[in-house]
Amino acid sequence: MDLNKAMVQRHMVRRYTDKPIPTEIVEKLNQYLKKTNEQYGLSIDLKINDTRAFTTIAKLLFAKGVRNFFIMAGQDRANLDEMLGYCGAGLMLYAQTLGLNTWWVGGTFNRKMMEKISSGNRVAGIIAVGYGQTQGVPHKSKTAEQVSSDINHMPPWFRKGIDAALLAPTALARQAFTINGSNNNVSILCNSGIFTGVDTGLVKYHFELGAGKENFEWI
Ligand SMILES: Cc1cc2nc3c(=O)[nH]c(=O)nc-3n(C[C@H](O)[C@H](O)[C@H](O)COP(=O)(O)O)c2cc1C
Repeated sequence: MDLNKAMVQRHMVRRYTDKPIPTEIVEKLNQYLKKTNEQYGLSIDLKINDTRAFTTIAKLLFAKGVRNFFIMAGQDRANLDEMLGYCGAGLMLYAQTLGLNTWWVGGTFNRKMMEKISSGNRVAGIIAVGYGQTQGVPHKSKTAEQVSSDINHMPPWFRKGIDAALLAPTALARQAFTINGSNNNVSILCNSGIFTGVDTGLVKYHFELGAGKENFEWI
């Protein structure tokens, strides 16, 4: 499965089976993670067979069987959240190509515990990862026209980018972004409160995959 297919197949999964992630797949995730942390100066950790991501109440209510997770963290700095969103999108899609399911959690995880065990000093969220009880369902989506007023006078790569951006996970599935373009310049505006940075990064990664990085520049 390539990343473009993974974008279509990835959906939030909040309930997991107890099937362990095989060692060779954990190995692949760790290799990917090491590269990402080095390239972007992040401190994302992967925890395997660890049930500390949620409180007991959250586990009873909605977070079923989460045993593996990434702690999305780094050293506090400008645009850290956007970087984590961007790299998190890559991680989630890579995990999907390995047959795994994921779930970005920005609010309802056990923040105190995650901050204690993280190797970064700011935790933006976690990504639960494992074998889902289901594959999830597509989120309700806005249309391309609702998120871009330039959709009809831009080249085909731009629509492909917008279609991909609409597949990105966003906080509360709000898709609170607009993307516009002129020639080969593209800009994004996003307003989802405390999740603005993360949402921006997640959406940018998806847009790039759909549009092709070589076709445009972010301004
Ligand atoms: C920044 C961010 C924060 C999120 N926080 C939570 C959360 O606190 N609890 C939760 O159950 N889901 C959370 N989610 C998951 C979203 O609700 C989910 O990704 C969204 O509904 C879109 O669905 P999809 O992932 O299937 O595309 C969060 C997602 C993002 C991107």
